[in-house]
Amino acid sequence: MRALILVGGYGTRLRPLTLSCPKPLVEFCNKPMIIHQIEALKVAGCTEVVLAINYQPEVMMGFIQEWQEKLGVKIVCSQEKEPMGTAGPLALARETLDDGKGTPFFVLNSDVICDYPLKDMLDFHKARGAEATILVTKVDDPTKYGVVVMDEYGQVQRFVEKPKEFVGDKINAGIYVCSPTILNRIELRPTSIEREVFPHVAADNRLYAYTLNGYWMDVGQPKDYLKGLHLYLDSMAIRQSPQLAKGPGINGNVLVDPSAKIGEGCLIGPDVSISAGCVIGNGVRLSHCVVMRGVRIKDHSKVESCIVGWDSTVGAWSRLENHCVLGEDVTVKDELYLNGAIVLPHKEIKESVSTPAIIL
Ligand code: GDD
Ligand code: MG
Repeated sequence: MRALILVGGYGTRLRPLTLSCPKPLVEFCNKPMIIHQIEALKVAGCTEVVLAINYQPEVMMGFIQEWQEKLGVKIVCSQEKEPMGTAGPLALARETLDDGKGTPFFVLNSDVICDYPLKDMLDFHKARGAEATILVTKVDDPTKYGVVVMDEYGQVQRFVEKPKEFVGDKINAGIYVCSPTILNRIELRPTSIEREVFPHVAADNRLYAYTLNGYWMDVGQPKDYLKGLHLYLDSMAIRQSPQLAKGPGINGNVLVDPSAKIGEGCLIGPDVSISAGCVIGNGVRLSHCVVMRGVRIKDHSKVESCIVGWDSTVGAWSRLENHCVLGEDVTVKDELYLNGAIVLPHKEIKESVSTPAIIL
């Protein structure tokens, strides 16, 4: 089976992290977001994954070389000359997606995390004879998503992208199973699957919705990314994953890469991920935060509800809180207080930031 992951888009809502690499390569729980998806696709029987990209192809190519071998899945790029939206990339990759035998394929938005019930979705799709099956989940605020209205068999009656008025609270989770016939509806031009394809498939009674039983989050913006961290680690705890850290100083769900070094007398958690090569000093307090590859946090600092980007350094006796996001290779000097600071890559911070601000 094949799959296409929509990797394009500039990821502006996840800046400054996306100034260093495309959104799908931003680490989530110690590996690039997209790796969580490719691993799930492999388990569901996919042998070939198409990455639909529209910018930074060279970064993507390097990534593909490394991970193809590690994962044992063929990964190919389908590069757009101009952004093709969420449906155009399917037309561009038509040759790969349509095997001529009617085999369905998966389509994924690259910024969603969940338990990926791909096999169950596929069985549901086949049983219903659907042209497309959408994974749906319930959210409190449906306005920033695509809303799906369906009957008790899962047949979709309406699909409304980013509704201005309340239509329902079941939303498109950004994961689809499609039969190749859907390709006949998609022209080779920039076009939206949500606005220009799904409403027509629904009108033909060929669009179905499979309801997700479990956690889900679009991690394409910092606050949601941190919520996603909580949900992901919580699901690891429910599965009693041996990867979660244990021992003195660990509080709640914490993920620590084996190559990270943690000093004496730290208090870490709940909801913390610490990636490869990080060095955490003595007496450090971390909670609700993501510490990316190669980060150094010096003695007695406290980091709460923040994202610390690759290779950054947080000085001793510093305090970071309230959704600070440090881009790649940021240095925060000793004894500073950062409140909601968004810091661009390669900056050196020498003064406290007491109210939320973007540091250019
Ligand atoms: N290749 C390519 N080319 N990919 C693109 C392009 C493009 O021109 N534009 C967007 N994408 C990719 C993004 O990288 C992302 O993986 C996916 O398409 C969806 O784009 P987002 O920008 O993240 O959309 P959204 O979050 O506002 O809404 C979408 O996701 C929601 C669930 O998170 C829609 O699919 C909604 O219906 C859905 O509810
Ligand atoms: Mg999104």
